[in-house]
Amino acid sequence: MKVTINAAMTIDGKIATASGDSTISSKDDLKRVHRLRAGSDAVVVGISTVLADDPQLTVRLVRGKNPVRVVVDSRGRIPDDSQLLRTARKVRTIVAASMQASAVDVERIRQAGAEVILAGNEAVDIKALFSALKKKMGFKKILVEGGGELNWSVLNLGLADELIVTIAPRVAGGRLATTLVEGDGYDAISQGPKFRLARVQKTRAGELVLFYKVGKNT
Ligand SMILES: NC(=O)c1ccc[n+]([C@@H]2O[C@H](COP(=O)([O-])OP(=O)(O)OC[C@H]3O[C@@H](n4cnc5c(N)ncnc54)[C@H](OP(=O)(O)O)[C@@H]3O)[C@@H](O)[C@H]2O)c1
Repeated sequence: MKVTINAAMTIDGKIATASGDSTISSKDDLKRVHRLRAGSDAVVVGISTVLADDPQLTVRLVRGKNPVRVVVDSRGRIPDDSQLLRTARKVRTIVAASMQASAVDVERIRQAGAEVILAGNEAVDIKALFSALKKKMGFKKILVEGGGELNWSVLNLGLADELIVTIAPRVAGGRLATTLVEGDGYDAISQGPKFRLARVQKTRAGELVLFYKVGKNT
């Protein structure tokens, strides 16, 4: 199974402003992301991204099939009126929760038409989730679309094969703004994963799209 993380960030490494605005990519770059989605079996996001952006995670800007949408949501907080749950009967949607989710919320999410996978006692056990996506669902290509906390978990567990980062010619600033990778972080740079720059693309909007392969060192 191939796991790709894709994100757009400002020059100062923010993927959203402190108040939650994450409109960073140009239309050209969004098209590339939709193409990437169309070539993926599943797209995975964290619950804070759903609460902040209320995304659809579908393929709209290019022709192609929608990936299965997966939300990492330990407590089952995904709102009934979110775009993901409202369209769960049309586009396959999976909520990955943990033992922290109440039976009531699990049932509520299932009633909305989404599947619920339980993995982990506290946070969602991402390793177990990805293993289920591979072995039980037969998925071969997984696209992780953030946010920063989920990116950290996936990178820290050594699960990512590829990291694609768009650098937009903007600065967000703000010490509370979400960065590309959050989590606890490493004490030494050498402890973190190492990347190999495989390709660089420039968009008409002056963005750089960096395609990194991830060295497996965990
Ligand atoms: N520019 C971009 O490309 C881009 C892409 C995506 C998102 N964003 C922005 O990023 C921001 C959200 O990012 P974020 O870092 O705050 O949150 P996030 O990664 O979207 O979601 C994190 C949440 O997921 C849940 N979770 C459960 N198990 C987890 C695990 N093992 N590892 C990680 N998360 C787990 C936790 O909430 P529970 O404890 O409740 O389960 C956690 O707080 C938003 O402002 C959004 O707009 C930008």
